[in-house]
Amino acid sequence: KITPVILSGGGGTRLWPTSTADKPKQFLTLAGDATMYQLTLARCMDRDFFAPPIVVGNGAHADLIAAQSIEAGVPDATVILEPCARNTAPAIALAALAADTPNAPLLVMPSDHLIADVAAFHAAIMAALPLVEDGWLVTFGIEPTAPETGYGYIRMGEPLTAAVARVERFVEKPDAATAQSMIDAGNHAWNGGIFLFRADIYLGCLERLAPEMLAAAKASMTDAVRDGAVIRPDQSSFAASPSDSIDYAVMEKADRVAVAPVSMGWSDVGSWDSLYDISEHDADGNSVQGNARLLDSHGNLVRSGAMRVNMIGTSDLIVVVHDNEILILPRGKSQEVKKFSS
Ligand code: GDD
Ligand code: MG
Repeated sequence: KITPVILSGGGGTRLWPTSTADKPKQFLTLAGDATMYQLTLARCMDRDFFAPPIVVGNGAHADLIAAQSIEAGVPDATVILEPCARNTAPAIALAALAADTPNAPLLVMPSDHLIADVAAFHAAIMAALPLVEDGWLVTFGIEPTAPETGYGYIRMGEPLTAAVARVERFVEKPDAATAQSMIDAGNHAWNGGIFLFRADIYLGCLERLAPEMLAAAKASMTDAVRDGAVIRPDQSSFAASPSDSIDYAVMEKADRVAVAPVSMGWSDVGSWDSLYDISEHDADGNSVQGNARLLDSHGNLVRSGAMRVNMIGTSDLIVVVHDNEILILPRGKSQEVKKFSS
């Protein structure tokens, strides 16, 4: 069986003011009928294929993780609560060290993405599994639609199986010109941020590429405080880890990295603009949730709670009301919202 590893430690700063440090994006219901964390749990609920998940998150979100897991019908998760954030590479190391069997296949998933076609996702996972058992690191490739600079890019090489190709080059977060040149070249995919590999293979990569990180993760797990299925790695040993993402620390440098291209209605809902793109619109192209009146207004995203938003003759705006904050900006600018979030 595959062990899902759910990463829930991110900040979601570009969806401020709704997403905050206390309750970031993954714990909010932004699209669909459950929070993004719960939608992630639901994708790996079938116990015929998936073992109970390992959730790696921020210690400050312990109560949110516990409550939302129970509400989603997943009482059997192992929850690793990081004493501080050291980015995704060490977080995944903790999960790999906690896996029941050393060579367990781990399906590493961000907790803050949407996948519309879960059947296509499952099919891609199953198709990639033989290569993973053979020791490859597999990532899932998304067809790029714009020169986004917030993603990793993969140049796809020779096919290894019908479903999986060798990664020729992995470029994490290129500048806009490099991103455009890769799109123009064709045969590139976005890194979906979802990974499948054996726990022992990942730990072996860290041993070679980031030995201090592995040592810190191991020490913090040896001295962890365990309370049932909740694991609190030791603070001072984990804090000694370098901070780095799996993309920079491992994927760009490892050998035997492969990509499984998959078309599954993927979105990382990274910003208010991308939420506008994936949400339902009325006849005027407005996406409205909450209390609002719009007259002669087109192409707006409006999110509010009890406060009523009233708009006349306005187009292509993002208007978000949350607690005591109001955010207003033209669509297309929402990458800049993180400037306000701290
Ligand atoms: N537990 C834990 N600890 N989780 C973390 C931490 C941490 O320190 N930092 C981030 N995460 C979680 C986030 O909540 C998110 O679910 C996931 O790990 C990925 O982190 P991001 O910070 O969102 O990464 P990114 O969006 O900049 O880039 C990654 O995702 C892109 C696709 O969305 C990369 O893998 C890119 O290559 C990829 O294209
Ligand atoms: Mg992300």
